[in-house]
Amino acid sequence: MPERLKNQRIVVSGGGRGIGVEIAKRLAGEGGSVLIADIDETVARETAEAIENSGGMASPCKVDVRDPGSVTAMIGAAVDTFGGLDSIFNNAGIAQVRQFLEITEEDWHTVMDVNGLGVLICMQEAVKQMLKQDSGGSIINMASIAGKQGYEPIAHYRALSRTIVPPSSVLWP
Ligand SMILES: NC(=O)c1ccc[n+]([C@@H]2O[C@H](COP(=O)([O-])OP(=O)(O)OC[C@H]3O[C@@H](n4cnc5c(N)ncnc54)[C@H](O)[C@@H]3O)[C@@H](O)[C@H]2O)c1
Repeated sequence: MPERLKNQRIVVSGGGRGIGVEIAKRLAGEGGSVLIADIDETVARETAEAIENSGGMASPCKVDVRDPGSVTAMIGAAVDTFGGLDSIFNNAGIAQVRQFLEITEEDWHTVMDVNGLGVLICMQEAVKQMLKQDSGGSIINMASIAGKQGYEPIAHYRALSRTIVPPSSVLWP
């Protein structure tokens, strides 16, 4: 097993399905300890088990990235399980296919709450822990080419490219 990420404690949100599974497997495959955090506890557990069965280190965690209390508990789970937090990969996201004139306010909030607010909450809670550790850390936010290029039936998804990373000088002056 490669050691590049040995002793790195990493949270992957939305790690139970799709792209998140592959991210988590790759990080664990390079020696990282990965918390598989997902709103769907079943898929989080399946991904963590698959990683453990292939010799990696992973643990499942249920989280709703829209809920600050749930995200605080997720960071706490990483600290309890692995002893701290070095990185968070904010991958959890949803896409809704809607013709432009059919997008409702509810659709807008559904997408924005996970893809925007959820990322902000996860970043804030991760930074609080990293500042407590005084260790620095990495924050990676998933984005999409859809933020730069037009696709008619996902206008509200495209509206958010999720580039809300604060400058490092704000975090560690
Ligand atoms: N699929 C693509 O073509 C594509 C392209 C570019 C970017 N992306 C982005 O990549 C990320 C993953 O996409 P995917 O296609 O693998 O999606 P997916 O639907 O297969 O997986 C998303 C995961 O996020 C979880 N999730 C959803 N809402 C959540 C919440 N509130 N709290 C915690 N977990 C939640 C889901 O349960 C699921 O396991 C998303 O952010 C998406 O916007 C996807």
